[in-house]
Amino acid sequence: MLPFSSLSIVTRSDAVRAVIARVDTIADSDTSVLLVGETGVGKELFADYIHRMSPRAHRPLVKVALSAMPHDLLESELFGHERGAFTNAVSDKPGLFELAHTGTLFLDDIDDVPPPAQVKLLRVLESHQVMRVGGSSMIPVDVRLITASKVDLKELVQRNAFRSDLFYRINVCPVEIPPLRDRREDVLLLASHFLGRFAPTKPLQFSPAAERAMMTYDWPGNVRELRNITERLALFSTGEIQLGDLPPEVRDGRAIEATVKACARCLVDDHLSYSEVVACLETNLLHQALVDADGNRSRAAKALGLSLSTLRDKLKKHGLDDDGE
Ligand SMILES: Nc1ncnc2c1ncn2[C@@H]1O[C@H](COP(=O)(O)OP(=O)(O)O)[C@@H](O)[C@H]1O
Ligand SMILES: [Mg+2]
Repeated sequence: MLPFSSLSIVTRSDAVRAVIARVDTIADSDTSVLLVGETGVGKELFADYIHRMSPRAHRPLVKVALSAMPHDLLESELFGHERGAFTNAVSDKPGLFELAHTGTLFLDDIDDVPPPAQVKLLRVLESHQVMRVGGSSMIPVDVRLITASKVDLKELVQRNAFRSDLFYRINVCPVEIPPLRDRREDVLLLASHFLGRFAPTKPLQFSPAAERAMMTYDWPGNVRELRNITERLALFSTGEIQLGDLPPEVRDGRAIEATVKACARCLVDDHLSYSEVVACLETNLLHQALVDADGNRSRAAKALGLSLSTLRDKLKKHGLDDDGE
């Protein structure tokens, strides 16, 4: 079994702590768990956690990426096949259900399973037995089921894209993992956790401007996106990570959002002319870029995608060039 630390869930969010408390209470039963959350929120990590906390911890944990599996292979992969069942079936092969026997089966992206396979899946879950493709006998399987979905399955049920009987079978204990943008208190904690993991010997940290940008960014790819970005930064950085070191989507998200917020006045005051609104926005954008770059004009120009001379001209135009550099 892997050491606890390599699987631990890092968080200071009350919402995620509540999720951990919820799964702690059901981990030692055989209850089916449905993990719901956007990509990268930690569904697989939670599946690992539940398995490890369960009495089946020393039995197999079999993970199935259903979205990656071609539909015509789904059945033989899940339930196995007998030799000669189809052209490429050169030998008997146990399915993933059989491999997970006495352990845990994690069906990831259950929302991607096409309706015909849903029927067969339900039958196996209800009867606790599988029949291999081309086989003639039922094989008993004892698995604890964990499923994960990127979308609200109830909506798929309403649209007839997901069978309601299968939904009720897997939804015994639904667990929703919130997106990272709804628990921003985890962003810097996770970022330093990953820096420590990917560059344990480097004393890396983020500048205040870089931290602000990371806190403001929406992280559509959630913890996975944060982990990947931090891994790159850990490789290439040596000391303090600056705003300009962050990928453009993270730093520009900051500049644009800050500017829009700062310009709420422009947006609500309809007495301003077009050129006044533009000037106000530009002034705020320049100001914000300078603040984020700790006053360094080259870095501010880079963050805005301007040449240094254009930045100077604009600062002059808006009366922001008083301190020179
Ligand atoms: N709270 C967390 N603490 C530490 N690592 C996390 C956390 N949440 C997610 N991760 C890591 O982020 C990556 C993506 O998580 P994963 O469980 O694969 O997400 P999902 O299955 O929801 O797409 C993995 O490397 C995972 O270990
Ligand atoms: Mg996943």
